[in-house]
Amino acid sequence: MKFFIDTANLAEIREAEALGILDGVTTNPSLIAKEGIKGLNNIFQHYVDICSIVEGDVSAEVVATDFDGMVREGEQLAELSEKIVVKVPMIKDGVKAISYFTKHNIRTNCTLVFSAGQAILAAKAGATYVSPFIGRIDDISWDGMELISQLVEIYTNYDFETQVLAASIRNPLHIVKCAEAGADVVTCPLSSIMGLLNHPLTDVGLAKFLADAKKWL
Ligand code: G3P
Repeated sequence: MKFFIDTANLAEIREAEALGILDGVTTNPSLIAKEGIKGLNNIFQHYVDICSIVEGDVSAEVVATDFDGMVREGEQLAELSEKIVVKVPMIKDGVKAISYFTKHNIRTNCTLVFSAGQAILAAKAGATYVSPFIGRIDDISWDGMELISQLVEIYTNYDFETQVLAASIRNPLHIVKCAEAGADVVTCPLSSIMGLLNHPLTDVGLAKFLADAKKWL
């Protein structure tokens, strides 16, 4: 399972990269806004900066909602770096744009996916990744993890190459459950990645080992 970090914050990306476990980055317009970056040129430069930190894929989202606008923006984004994956929303023109990008060898991440039907359309259009938002499904008291299992099963049934990229991860348990379900990728906030580290028995065990090591002196 690949680990992406879901942030546009350069310090957090560097911290995750330093762990040696990072396979890529996903961003969205809200995450870019959170960093206070304004103006298209500065935003494009920010994507380039992110690409310089990580080896893997970097998802950058279009904000146009019509086919022509999405194609224009997506082509500009794809020119920034070979690492860029164009993130496109799951709407009618989005599906058309993903089909267009697939034919023109531009990789895509279909975002805002909340149902198996949407994920089937994304795969048929040739999306590289599909992003089901599990946390936001949990937020309305449905089961986000059930959708991940469903997509893994459907894509396996038909050998779709589209990768299931579990998004809207809120905690370390989401990551573990995604691994059990066979998600190809999880994109997580740094706090959820770091949360995987923690176990009280590790802390207790280490304290005991260090105390015993003092007896060597
Ligand atoms: O990048 C999309 C997704 O991960 C958003 O997560 O926490 O805003 O639902 P969240």
